[in-house]
Order: sequence, then structure tokens, then C-alpha cells
Amino acid sequence: MLKIENLTKSYAKSNIKAVDDLSLELNKGEIFGFLGPNGAGKTTTIKMITGILESDSGSISISGFDIKKDSINAKRNIGYVSDSHVIYDKLTGREYVDFMANIYGVDMQTRQERANKLLEKFELKDAFDSQIKTYSHGMKQKISIIGALIHNPNLWVLDEPMTGLDPQSAFQLKELMREHCNDGKTVFFSTHVLEVAEKICDRIGIIVKGKLVTVGNLDEIKAAQGDSSLEDIFLSVAGGANA
Ligand SMILES: Nc1ncnc2c1ncn2[C@@H]1O[C@H](COP(=O)(O)OP(=O)(O)O)[C@@H](O)[C@H]1O
Ligand SMILES: [Mg+2]
Repeated sequence: MLKIENLTKSYAKSNIKAVDDLSLELNKGEIFGFLGPNGAGKTTTIKMITGILESDSGSISISGFDIKKDSINAKRNIGYVSDSHVIYDKLTGREYVDFMANIYGVDMQTRQERANKLLEKFELKDAFDSQIKTYSHGMKQKISIIGALIHNPNLWVLDEPMTGLDPQSAFQLKELMREHCNDGKTVFFSTHVLEVAEKICDRIGIIVKGKLVTVGNLDEIKAAQGDSSLEDIFLSVAGGANA
């Protein structure tokens, strides 16, 4: 579904590799949690998956389409929620969702059905015709999510999606991730909140200084690391790489 091979990236003027020879394969129907301390390379990896940044070397394919060689088809299969909430805030929520639906060629009836379901879930119906600039941080996050899901993508990529969500919205988002995967889709999200990863992920990968240091389901990771808690494992691999 998502296949990353030997992905490497350095930023200009930096001889540090932000992402260093990272390989990873995600299956249909799984929620994958991408964990790592600040500056580990999570956002850089996500920006390469979504085609915003170009890798120095390595390859990424989404539903069989190479992000560099066949970027339009690859991107058709991705729904992306960025960490920066840069959103067209002069538009109303409805205009924004329509804009996204137009880009992805979603017909009127389908977009209305999908938007209605999500608006109800997120209790955003009353604000749908207000300008996004009047929204709270959490509401902006929710409308980004609705925009990202309007074409029902095979791969849903979210960068630190729980940030700024109240507990109820965070719960709804987790539910939505699970529903999306139950439909045979795949979710890839980054977080530094271990509890979230522990609760909902089928598999977890930990990235430290650009390198994927461990990957597997929670039981596998715990068994490989001497049955410690995820927090202990995280601190030990993240700290170990600093030493
Ligand atoms: N635009 C940029 N220019 C130069 N260096 C960057 C840029 N963005 C990120 N970096 C560096 O790349 C590394 C990985 O950053 P990032 O991918 O944002 O990590 P994370 O999302 O895990 O916090 C860090 O060392 C960061 O300082
Ligand atoms: Mg980041």
C-alpha cells in the first residue's frame, strides 16, 4: 500500500541527514504510528510521502504509484493533514471542502454525503458556512480533516493530528482512523504522544535522528526490548541515539 525504500534527505546547507536510509512498508487496513522526539525527521518523511519535498535518494510508492515518476496518480491516493494548519481562512468551511472536492474530482452527491457524515461527527455543522478565520484551532483541525477525507483516500497521512484537539475530538478522530482502516484503507500518522500510539496503532515505528530504530506491533517491540513499557523503550532508544 505504502512502500518506502532507502529514503534519504538532507536540507540545503546541512550535512546532517534529516532522514537517513529509511525503509518501511505499510499494509492495507492498518494504522501505523510514527513516533519520535522533536527533530527526529517525522515531518520531513511525511512531506516526502506526500510529494511536498523531494528526497535525495530512495523511493516511495503509494498504491503502486511512484511519488516522483507518477506523482498525480500517487497523490490521488493520499489524504494529508499537515501539522501547520495553513488553510485558506477567507473561505467558509463549505467553500474549502468544495475546493478540495473539486481538486480530487468528487461528484456533488458523494461530497455532500461524506461531508455531512463528518460534520455531524465533529459537530461542525453550524459553522460550515462561516469563514474559517473565525474558527478555533480545533475547528480548523477538523475542517482540514474533512477536506483530507473528501475523496476517501487509500492512504491517510496525518502529521501530529492530536495537537490542539479536546479529548472528545481526539476520541472522534481515533474512531475515524479505525473506521477508515476497517474499510481497507491505511492510516499513517506521526505523534510524540505515546498514549495515543499505544491505544490505536496496529504497528509503531520509532524514528530517531532520521533513522527508523524499531518497527513492529506493540507486543513485538516490547518483547524485543525486554518487555519494558513503551515509554521506557522510547526514552531508551531516543536517549541512546543522543549518547
Ligand atoms: N526547512 C528546513 N531547513 C533546514 N533544516 C530543517 C528544515 N526542516 C527541518 N529541518 C531539520 O531536519 C531535522 C528533522 O526535522 P523534522 O522532520 O521537522 O522533525 P520532526 O517532525 O520529527 O520534529 C531536524 O534536525 C530539523 O532541524
Ligand atoms: Mg514534525
